Parts: sequence; C-alpha cells; structure tokens
Amino acid sequence: MKQGIFITFEGIDGSGKSTQAQMLAARLTAEGVPTLITREPGGTVLAEKIRDLLLFAEEDPAPETEILLYAAARAQHVGKVIRPALARGAVVICERFTDSTLAYQGFAAGNDPELIRQMNTFATGGLVPDLTFLLDLTPDQGWRRVQERSSRIGTDRIEARGLSFQEKVRQGYLRLAAAEAERFCLLTGSDRTKEEVHQQIWVRFLEKFPFIPVGSKGKGGK
Ligand code: TMP
Repeated sequence: MKQGIFITFEGIDGSGKSTQAQMLAARLTAEGVPTLITREPGGTVLAEKIRDLLLFAEEDPAPETEILLYAAARAQHVGKVIRPALARGAVVICERFTDSTLAYQGFAAGNDPELIRQMNTFATGGLVPDLTFLLDLTPDQGWRRVQERSSRIGTDRIEARGLSFQEKVRQGYLRLAAAEAERFCLLTGSDRTKEEVHQQIWVRFLEKFPFIPVGSKGKGGK
C-alpha cells in the first residue's frame, strides 16, 4: 500500500530536470527525510537494459515497439523499486514518468494519447505522481545543453529527432499541465539560476506536504 510521496520531474531534453531532481533529493536527505532518486527509462537492471535498447540500438523501433518498451521498463521499475520504496514511506523522486510517454510518443510522435494512457495504467497499476515539476523552456535553450552533453556522451536516438520534435513535446507537456493544474507545478524561465529554481521547488514541496518533518533550516533558508 502506498504511504510515501511520489514526485516526478518532467521536461524536454536539456531542461535541467536531472539537476533539479538531484538538488531536491539532496536537500530532503540532508533534512533526514528518507528519499530515493531514480529515473526512467531505467531504475532497475532490466529497465536500464531496455533504456539502452530504446536510446542506442542500431535498429529504429516501430512506434508500437517503442511504446511497449517504455511500458515494459516502467512496469519493472514501478513493481521492483517505486512501490516498495513508497510502501516504506520514502519520498520517491523520479526523473520522467508516464507524462513523458504522453508528451513524446503521444503528442509529439502522433500516437493516440488515449491508448498511451491505457498502457500507462496497465504498466503502473494506476500509480499517479503526487506532484510533478515541469521545467519549461524553449527547445533552442534546451538544445544548447543537449549539444554540450552529446559532445561528451554521444547523441541518443530521441535527442537526434531535432528541434521541431522538441517543440511538439513541449506543447504536449503544456497541455498536460493545463489539464491537471493541481498535480503539476510549472517552472518557467531559463534566465534564473539553478538555486533560484530549486528554491521555488522547495517552497512548493513544503506547501503541498506540510506534514513532512523538516527542520528550521529547511523552512526558510537555502
Ligand atoms: P533522459 O535523457 O531525460 O534520461 O531521457 C531519455 C530520453 O527518453 C528522452 O529523450 C525522452 C525519452 N523518453 C520518451 O520518449 N518516453 C518516455 O516515456 C520516457 C520515460 C523517456
């Protein structure tokens, strides 16, 4: 049974969600709150293997294959890692989750969003994040970070789809956030420092979960 708190970070490639997820996890851990940080696709040995297939296999997957592989990785991750951690009462912070499949494979790649919702429900057993931070920036702002990273680790298949695809992903995310304004926290603007964005995330987190035991250091300071 779910007891912990499930937080997800979403955004286009290069939106800075990894940095922000790590900053939130580090702060909660420093406050003594049991916290697990994980990512999709991935988060278990098997799901990380599926991640490699999705991002780096030589052969392009058919659209249906791609959706099923994301769902397979997610089912494994939810069953083996996320649900057990929530049952222990942890705060689980996940980089990307079901909204990524809706935004990328649904809105951007043109697959039926309703079908993807059904696949998501099947894969997760109906698990929905308690709070989702959406880091919104324009694709060319994100692209700069993607290119810096790609020159180090190589461009993956999805990043290689280019700017117009990222713009469709972005618009998909904005639609999802508008439809579920209670669950989403939209973080806009690339002109802010990562510490400023983190502070906004922290304030929203404490507003939403006031029962989380954080010390005086946590409530006000950085
Ligand atoms: P990452 O680089 O943020 O870890 O994500 C890897 C890529 O996987 C990213 O380009 C987005 C993509 N992706 C999907 O297309 N659908 C999904 O459901 C997930 C979880 C990721």
